[in-house]
Amino acid sequence: MKTKVILIGGAGFIGHNIALRLKRDNYEVFVVDGLNVNNLLTFQERDVENRSLYRSILNNRLDLLQNEKIELQVQDARSYHSISKIIDQYNPDIIIHLAAVSHSNRSNKDPHSTFDHSLRTLENVLDASKGKDKLPHLIYISSSMVYGNFDGKEVKEDDPLNPIGIYGTLKLSGELMVKAYNQVFGIPYTIIRPSALYGERCVSRRVSQIFIENTLLGKEIIINGDGKEKLDFTYIEDLYHGIFRCIESKNSKNQIFNITYGEGREVKELIKILENKIAKVNLNYLPKSELTPERGTLSTKKARELINYRPSFNLERGYNLYIDWYLKFFKNFKKQNVI
Ligand SMILES: NC(=O)c1ccc[n+]([C@@H]2O[C@H](COP(=O)([O-])OP(=O)(O)OC[C@H]3O[C@@H](n4cnc5c(N)ncnc54)[C@H](O)[C@@H]3O)[C@@H](O)[C@H]2O)c1
Repeated sequence: MKTKVILIGGAGFIGHNIALRLKRDNYEVFVVDGLNVNNLLTFQERDVENRSLYRSILNNRLDLLQNEKIELQVQDARSYHSISKIIDQYNPDIIIHLAAVSHSNRSNKDPHSTFDHSLRTLENVLDASKGKDKLPHLIYISSSMVYGNFDGKEVKEDDPLNPIGIYGTLKLSGELMVKAYNQVFGIPYTIIRPSALYGERCVSRRVSQIFIENTLLGKEIIINGDGKEKLDFTYIEDLYHGIFRCIESKNSKNQIFNITYGEGREVKELIKILENKIAKVNLNYLPKSELTPERGTLSTKKARELINYRPSFNLERGYNLYIDWYLKFFKNFKKQNVI
């Protein structure tokens, strides 16, 4: 019998990529997503920047899921009864919880809906999972934002947690809830803290994506700060490998792991790679928001030792792959659309 995996928020950037890879690795995969946050319904509005490009990328996600015969149930996970019914009927071995407002600026602008999409959905999933004969293994996708400022050091899983703002605080609250449901109801969990992910079909408008798009569209690239800020840029395939190791290794149970490439790199280094590949870019610098913590490298030592995690996409390798994909997608998109 195949291992059954449900991904809640599974049509998002991370979710659909993980669903496709799990299917390729012979898991039975089921996706639940409301398509309502940073997804097709969001990009219905006319005045959203690059709307038609993003809709095309999002439709491409759905086509890929359909081509792989991965079932997608369009469902808002804020509905407790609907989520309980899905979990009861599907009876999964693994649940990966991804639903959220996955962007710290957007979370600060709308804490109320961020709470609902992130924490309400998580609590629904936890509550619907308790008391089952077969307790599912819950994999909660948290974030490096739970640490707050890194203070120039490599952060480890047991370092102090001082999130700044709504997003990181809700992520930490989610971690505590996951642990509490383990204490009270025995639901096994793994908490994953990724950082600065990039890769195919992302529409979240983080630096790695916007830099490529603005270069292709001949627009100025804005760096908030001096470009020397370090982020632990992580290619989506490395995150998949980390999640795969968490599913496969018994040592992952009731543990927290940083799952990143494991090396802080300056934001400016993305520009160097882009210029080598596409064209000289037009750069402008603006002040960095005080609500953005100072980040850098996350230690992957624990994941390497306990679950044999072996990231293999340094920034040069991963970002070049992402740019190659974008160039191809953009060329096809331009053939069919006027931008
Ligand atoms: N992308 C990153 O760099 C990054 C880094 C660290 C952590 N994370 C976390 O990983 C998770 C996934 O991030 P992503 O980048 O794929 O974001 P995303 O915005 O692309 O995907 C989130 C998905 O969740 C769905 N969703 C939201 N609320 C829902 C609800 N109420 N019911 C059903 N579906 C709902 C959305 O429709 C969307 O498809 C998030 O929890 C995010 O906080 C992401």
